[in-house]
Amino acid sequence: MDITFDHVSYVYQPNSPFEHRALNDLSFSVKSGSFVAVIGHTGSGKSTLIQHLNGLLQPTEGKVQIGDYVLEAEGKNKRLRDLRESVGVVFQYPEHQLFEETVAKDIAFGPQNFGVENKEIEKRTREAVKATGLPEDLLNRSPFDLSGGQMRRVAISGVLAMNPKVLVLDEPTAGLDPSGQKEIMSMFSRLHREKGLTTILVTHSMEDALAYADHIIIMNHGELYSEGTPLEIFQQQKALEDVQLDIPEVIAFISEVRKRLNIDLEYKGQTIAELAKELAHKVRGGGDHE
Ligand SMILES: Nc1ncnc2c1ncn2[C@@H]1O[C@H](COP(=O)(O)OP(=O)(O)O)[C@@H](O)[C@H]1O
Ligand SMILES: [Mg+2]
Repeated sequence: MDITFDHVSYVYQPNSPFEHRALNDLSFSVKSGSFVAVIGHTGSGKSTLIQHLNGLLQPTEGKVQIGDYVLEAEGKNKRLRDLRESVGVVFQYPEHQLFEETVAKDIAFGPQNFGVENKEIEKRTREAVKATGLPEDLLNRSPFDLSGGQMRRVAISGVLAMNPKVLVLDEPTAGLDPSGQKEIMSMFSRLHREKGLTTILVTHSMEDALAYADHIIIMNHGELYSEGTPLEIFQQQKALEDVQLDIPEVIAFISEVRKRLNIDLEYKGQTIAELAKELAHKVRGGGDHE
């Protein structure tokens, strides 16, 4: 589904001493089928932005369009139910929202609410636990007996069981160990491709933004600071420093090589080891001897 933000502002608790303008005149578009990373330091408005994608928040000014659903400041915003069926949101620490007696019931909760038939729910549940790497024999256990990582996977399974077209992920790997982080991100990447999803990932990891996204949006103080392909974004070293964001290791390596050796390596998704090999090749004389 195509997504457009058109001059969107959002103000928390307007006309109170706590009034806070969390989004300011934000405009951007996301093409259906793309994988977008939203980055920016804490408090820059990332979570506020994504809560507009399923109508949890409604713009104070401006307009959000998701497929043919329109969310406006003034509008009544009908058909929110349809929107929520199409847009699956994995909130930060989604395991905090588990509440059913069994894993199976928790995963079934969303689809049941939307009137999906039992047989279809069972099928989706099996698919979802398979996708998230949970053993099927956990289905009858209490989610509260599971490890933190497994609880996270149960919560994600519940979102997948809705069969969303748009998947919104708010720091989905926060608090997981490095191997768990990698597994979860590879799973989202695979689902994105296999199901033709539109994926919006909020992340602190520049490495993940580089590895998985085809478009990056940088938020700063509630405004769009910059956007572009990962390469375009991560080559703007100074701009990233200005908003206190890191540069992925591979990009730092390429820029260091350019600075110290005056050699240009072209980034095409290589690892540092692969880049080092290319560099060795160039230093030894461009491969004339091999
Ligand atoms: N319920 C709220 N009431 C008032 N201010 C809020 C509320 N939620 C978030 N904010 C403020 O809005 C700004 C953006 O927050 P958020 O969207 O959570 O940023 P991020 O996800 O990038 O860390 C922050 O300054 C935050 O303190
Ligand atoms: Mg946040």
